[in-house]
Amino acid sequence: MSTSPLENLSAQTAELLRAIGAFTSLDELRDAEASVIGKRSVFSSLQRSLGTLEPEARRDAGSQLQEARRVVEAAFSTKREELTQLARHATLAGERLDLGDVVVSSVHWPLAAGHPGLIATTQRQLEDVFVAMGFSVSEGPEVESDWYNFEALNIPPAHPARGLWDTFYVELGEPETVVLRTHTSPTQIHQMEEAVRTNTLPIHSVMPGRCFRRDTPDSRHLATFHQIEGLVVDRGLSFADLAGVIETFTRAYFGADISSRLRPGFFPFTEPSAEFEITCTICKGEGCRTCSHTGWIELGGCGMLDPAVFDAVGIDGDEWSGFAFGFGIDRCAQMRHHIADMRALVENDVRFLRQFS
Ligand code: PHE
Repeated sequence: MSTSPLENLSAQTAELLRAIGAFTSLDELRDAEASVIGKRSVFSSLQRSLGTLEPEARRDAGSQLQEARRVVEAAFSTKREELTQLARHATLAGERLDLGDVVVSSVHWPLAAGHPGLIATTQRQLEDVFVAMGFSVSEGPEVESDWYNFEALNIPPAHPARGLWDTFYVELGEPETVVLRTHTSPTQIHQMEEAVRTNTLPIHSVMPGRCFRRDTPDSRHLATFHQIEGLVVDRGLSFADLAGVIETFTRAYFGADISSRLRPGFFPFTEPSAEFEITCTICKGEGCRTCSHTGWIELGGCGMLDPAVFDAVGIDGDEWSGFAFGFGIDRCAQMRHHIADMRALVENDVRFLRQFS
């Protein structure tokens, strides 16, 4: 009786499975796979040797061999997956950056740190000057009703400041006309109403903020600009107090060689009113093109609170007196830094902005 070519099959299979389990590289595994189950492999020659068997024995041996082959192939593919995974992890581990030792200051990309713009810086400096003089700082809304922006400030309906020409109207008419504030003076009304409501008079306050007018921008005007409003309501105030505050501010902010002067002017909400001017910083008062050869530059307006304004907010004008002033923050920046064209403030040209970091 001839011995079956498969008599060692289970031992051979066990040996193969052990060998497959021991492989540590994908290359070795691939070579082994070719010699075990490829065309000229162990399994193929066993397959061929079955041809010598009786048909029935051949069928049995065939399915035995097929089963063994399936088990071995499965072992190869499991091992292949395992080794592939390991290889991938090894690659990832090699690519991993250990940031533990990186010192931040040794990173040399250009760190472009920003800084506040000139208008913001100027606003802060102006606030500082007034805080040092005993004022507090507050803000009001940029969108106002007709009442706050005009009416309560004694600006009659026919006043040119209300014209479509220089006011941005958000909503025109009923129930209320709404505008982008054309100046910071409406914050005076908010402050006084609040003080009446909470019974906290007197008031010593400055209110900076953004204002809007339908102005065509030029070297001294922007359609969106900034003002700082000052309001003092106290007992026994005179025009001398107002002039003293203006002069003290001027010297503190612009320096001892720059002084202020008040020229008679008109505002519906102050009486008497004055235009507030300072020595031209460009020619130091000699006269130049910027100041139209007068030696003076207008910064804003001021005056003693008009009784009509006290009436509008319900303050007794017999007991209380007050003064207010308002001037351009952008204009202050322009004068202090000798900026020929105010539009530079909003053009966002970094070569300009960088000078004020
Ligand atoms: N609001 C006025 C303007 O924008 C300036 C001003 C403020 C005048 C306070 C008097 C008192 O021109």
